[in-house]
Amino acid sequence: MTFAFPKGFLWGTATAAHQVEGGNTASDLWLMEWMKPSLFAEPSADACDHYHRYDGDIGLLAGLGFNTYRFSIEWARIEPEEGFFSKAALDHYRRVLASCHAQNILPMVTFHHFTAPLWFTRDGGWEDAKSVDRFVRYCEAAAAALGDLMPYGCTINEANIPQMITTMREISGRQPRPGGRRDRALTEAARLSGGVPGRFAPYLSGDGNKATPHLIAAHRKSYGAIKAKTNAKLGVTLSLTDYQAVEDGAALRDKVHHAINGQFLETLKGDDFIGVQTYSRALIGAHGIVPPPNSAERTQMGYEFYPEALEACIRFAAKESGCPTIVTENGIGTEDDTRRMEYTRRALSGVINCLKDGIDLRGYVHWSMLDNYEWLEGYRPKFGLIEVDRATQARRPKPTAYWLGEIARRNAVA
Ligand code: BGC
Repeated sequence: MTFAFPKGFLWGTATAAHQVEGGNTASDLWLMEWMKPSLFAEPSADACDHYHRYDGDIGLLAGLGFNTYRFSIEWARIEPEEGFFSKAALDHYRRVLASCHAQNILPMVTFHHFTAPLWFTRDGGWEDAKSVDRFVRYCEAAAAALGDLMPYGCTINEANIPQMITTMREISGRQPRPGGRRDRALTEAARLSGGVPGRFAPYLSGDGNKATPHLIAAHRKSYGAIKAKTNAKLGVTLSLTDYQAVEDGAALRDKVHHAINGQFLETLKGDDFIGVQTYSRALIGAHGIVPPPNSAERTQMGYEFYPEALEACIRFAAKESGCPTIVTENGIGTEDDTRRMEYTRRALSGVINCLKDGIDLRGYVHWSMLDNYEWLEGYRPKFGLIEVDRATQARRPKPTAYWLGEIARRNAVA
C-alpha cells in the first residue's frame, strides 16, 4: 500500500555545529573536553571537519534525495568575546546557507544547540538572568547578517533538557554527589577559565530549575527579535520522551510531564511550529522510573529500542501546543544499520498515522546526517546516515541513507 506525503513535506537530516564542525575552541565544552580528568570520553577535536566540508556534505544530502538540512550556527564562533561579533564567522554561515540554496536544500538554522561561548558559561550561563538579553543580542546580530537566506529557524535546541535532567534526578533521588566527579570538573573549569567556583554552568550540567525561566524568556524574546529581521518560520525544539505510566504511575507521569514540558508548552501558542525530538520511551511507576524489561533491545545509548515513541510524542506536542509540528530530530545510535532502517521504518509508520488523523505535521528530519561527536560519549555512538572515516574524513552513505533518501525523493512510501 503506498502513502503519499503532503506536498512540500520537509525531508531532512540534522547536525549541530559542535558535533560536526571541529575546532570550536572558543566554546565552553572545548575547555571541558581537554581538561584532565575530563567528563568527556574524548575531545571533539576536528569532529567531521564539516566547517570546511559543508558544501560536499550538503551536496551528498541533495544527491540522496533530501530537501532540508537542519544545522546550528555556533554562538561561540560568532561572539567569541562578549560584544564582539565576528564578521568572518557570519560570512562563513552565509556561505553555508548559500550552498544549501544553490543545491535546492532548504536550510533550517538552530541558534543554540547546547554549546555556548566560554565567557557566557563562565559567568553563570543560563542560570544568570543576564543570559536572556545576551542570547537575544546574539540572535539579533545573526539574524541581521543571515536572515535573508533563512527560511526556517529554531531558537533553542531542546530548551527543556536542563529541566528534564534536573527533574529526572529529583524523582530518581540520584543527585550528583557534592564534591564528586561532576562538581570537581565544574570547579576546575571555573578555575581554568578565570571564573568563580560555583558559577560555571554549561547547558547540560547546570541547574534546570534555575535555567528554565531564562530559557523560556529567551525563546520568547529572541522569537520577536529574529522575526523583526527575517521572514523565517520559527519555533523551539523540545526533547520529548514517550512517558508511559506503569504500576500506578499515572500521577507521577503527569507530574513529570508538567515539570518538564508543561511550562514550555503553555508559552508556545501562536509559534510557527514546535520541533519534536524523540528517541525512546520511559516507563514511570508510582515511585519513579521503571527500567525496561530485560528482554528489551537497547540502543548504543542504553535507551530502549522503541520507535513507536515518535507517534505518541507528535500527538502530544500537537495537542498540547496547538502549533504545527515538525519532527526536528529522530534517530538511533547503532553500529548495525539494519536496526537503523527498522527503527526509522517503524517511526515513519507513526508519522503516517499522525498525518492520516489530520495532525498538522510538516516534516521529518532525521538525526543525524553524519556519524558525529556524541557529547560525553565521544565518537562511539553511531547516529549517522553517512559513515565518516575518522582518519581520512571520507564519507560513505549507509543503506538507510539511500532508502530514506528515496522516500524523500518520491515523497511517498511504497
Ligand atoms: C541532541 C543531539 C544528540 C542526540 C542523540 C539530542 O538530544 O539534540 O545533539 O546528539 O540527541 O543523543
